[in-house]
Amino acid sequence: TESGCLSIVVLGASGDLAKKKTFPALFNLYRQGFLQSEDVYILGYARTKLSKEGLRDRIREHLKPAKADSTKDPTEVISDFLKLVSYVSGTYDTEEGFLKLNEEIAKYEESKNGAEGPSRRLFYLALPPSVYPIVCKMIRHHCMNQGGGWTRVIVEKPFGKDLTSAEDLSNQLGELFSEEQIYRIDHYLGKELVQNLLVVRFANRLFLPLWNRDNIDNIQIVFREDFGTEGRGGYFDEYGIIRDIIQNHLLQILCLISMEKPVSLYPEHIRDEKVKVLQSVEPIRADDVVLGQYEGYTEDPTVPKDSKTPTFATVVLRINNERWDGVPFILKAGKALNSRKAEIRVQFRDVPGDIFKCNKHGRNEFVIRLQPLEAMYMKLMVKKPGLEMSTTQSELDLSYQQRYQDIAIPEAYERLILDTIRGDQQHFVRRDELKVAWEIFTPLLNRIDNGEIKPCPYTPGSRGPKEADELAARVGYRQTPGY
Ligand code: BG6
Repeated sequence: TESGCLSIVVLGASGDLAKKKTFPALFNLYRQGFLQSEDVYILGYARTKLSKEGLRDRIREHLKPAKADSTKDPTEVISDFLKLVSYVSGTYDTEEGFLKLNEEIAKYEESKNGAEGPSRRLFYLALPPSVYPIVCKMIRHHCMNQGGGWTRVIVEKPFGKDLTSAEDLSNQLGELFSEEQIYRIDHYLGKELVQNLLVVRFANRLFLPLWNRDNIDNIQIVFREDFGTEGRGGYFDEYGIIRDIIQNHLLQILCLISMEKPVSLYPEHIRDEKVKVLQSVEPIRADDVVLGQYEGYTEDPTVPKDSKTPTFATVVLRINNERWDGVPFILKAGKALNSRKAEIRVQFRDVPGDIFKCNKHGRNEFVIRLQPLEAMYMKLMVKKPGLEMSTTQSELDLSYQQRYQDIAIPEAYERLILDTIRGDQQHFVRRDELKVAWEIFTPLLNRIDNGEIKPCPYTPGSRGPKEADELAARVGYRQTPGY
């Protein structure tokens, strides 16, 4: 690993994402020894006039000391971390602030002149995407590493609103930075069980021969939240649930669950396979979509009264290749539902020659729960214990909390920031991947935006519109009793 001094610049330092995700992730990396005080400098940048103490106070509230800190006073660990944090204020579209920023970084690098290895600069854009192009331009012109070390930039979705705007953004950023310098975060790729998908699929003999249309009936990828868009109505209403969750988070999961085995674990080999499977996704059929909007959504003062933005959607995707022809992938996401949960449900076909008459009770189902309480479990038919010969469905259950009691599962952002520092792009979205993702959804989004497909109302706290359950059932999903 490289060991030159490292400057991490968080642009948009006084915003929500920075406070709630970026700084806490940096703190956790520091706490676990991945960022050493001797060689890291963290700089916040934003428009707000603020002293460095002011920024530190804002961050402090969001840092949680972990139990593992017991050897050292946890609040001391927090103050030690905060000592590494400084602040520069400036606008996003004029050079003054960026010149100041560059001066600060250069000063720090000079002070570390004796450090082994070239200095490194990481820019984290915790900003609205409308300013990405100008901010990247400013970084490119005024803040690049001159010392032979790297400069990398982390950006976060939304990457455009449709194919054209996304390509436009990609072109603009592509003129300033090479693909190796751009890290597009989809934080679902940093989740423990998402990172587990390729291992489970390709390191288990058990699954290899079963993972195809001959054995799998349908796959459901579900995201539910039990809260609405409170406080984010303005952003959300412009995007809707498909752009917010399905086109990125759920589609990334679909890639990992359906792609072919990569040639190796080299990041480009993995991303090549993801692109290929996305290219095999068929155009979305109108009758494969159900939209919903929870009752009360438009009462949010930041949402237009006549908004038709979906807060819920079920979209069935079909992959036209040898492995998956005929298997529906049911992508479902919703706000203000009955629970907060993200999971993948792989439902196997019925048993042929069903002498136990058990098909009607349920099928084999492999469930991967990303959150909460990470788990993988397999639904199996077994004999119901007792004197009678009857069958019942039961689980082989791997719950992480029980099995890995002593291992704290890292936050997605921690892992992804560390990957960026290490230069590993495997868990980031490549430009061509992003393009195909937009190609899949743009025609549907246009129809929704034109009012051709309207959302069905649903009660907050429910399972979503009943039409969505009907669609899932129509394409073959059989609801497990009690689910
Ligand atoms: C974000 C979406 O990308 O993911 C939010 O913009 C959503 O709407 C969030 O709430 C969910 O992330 P997580 O990690 O809490 O499941």
